[in-house]
Amino acid sequence: MGHYYEYETIDSTNDEAKRLIAASRTPADIPFGTVIVADEQTAGRGRFGRVFASPAADSVYMSFILRPVGAAGDTPLVTVMAAVAVCEAIEAIAGGQPRIKWVNDIYSNEKKVCGILAEGVSASGSGAIDGIALGIGVNINVPQDGFPEEIRAIAGAVDMDPRDRRRFVAELIARVNARYDELSRGISPIGAYRERSLVIGKEIAVIRADGTEARAVAEGVADDGSLLARYADGRSEFLHSGEISLKIKK
Ligand code: BTN
Repeated sequence: MGHYYEYETIDSTNDEAKRLIAASRTPADIPFGTVIVADEQTAGRGRFGRVFASPAADSVYMSFILRPVGAAGDTPLVTVMAAVAVCEAIEAIAGGQPRIKWVNDIYSNEKKVCGILAEGVSASGSGAIDGIALGIGVNINVPQDGFPEEIRAIAGAVDMDPRDRRRFVAELIARVNARYDELSRGISPIGAYRERSLVIGKEIAVIRADGTEARAVAEGVADDGSLLARYADGRSEFLHSGEISLKIKK
């Protein structure tokens, strides 16, 4: 059994998860099932090393320490299953219809209310992935001026009775564990992911690491979680989450 750590404030729950994994003497010591939950982060991180604004409100910033399923290449499917689990937990406790913007952002009422960051960690130094730090940040009851100005147009929050916050954390843990257990047994979350997709069938802008943008239509999500994009010239491509971000065209 893993441990449950609760913090009022921390630098980053993912960094704490990585510290716990790194402090393990052998991979066998890694505390799988451990969960770290914080009310606020002072150095919350998003994809591509971006800052993830993590103000104190009723928001939940949490990280799970998971055992890698098969090869390190499974980290994208961990993100996929986490996105489904977050939607399920929001639906169960706050209601509404959260939707997934490929690959790892949860939207509600056209605003991003949650980000997910799965990081493989090698404790042994061999390069093999010994643990996964799965970080989930859900904005809850954050007033619009509670976000830094530069993200106010995009960021939003789930409305929830503050008394339900603990129930939400418990629900999220249960859903992540159930979906991860399924994934470990070869049951894919991809069907549930597709059902909640915000991008399939939409016009998108594909943004690469060098900043170049290309217009495309998101035709579908493949079984490995990659996104099938068809460009205006008829060319199509499977996009992988590590290199790409998306904008949905209105
Ligand atoms: C993104 O939107 O790019 C991903 C954001 C992931 C945020 C969560 S909050 C809990 C965990 N700790 C972090 O520093 N990041 C993740």
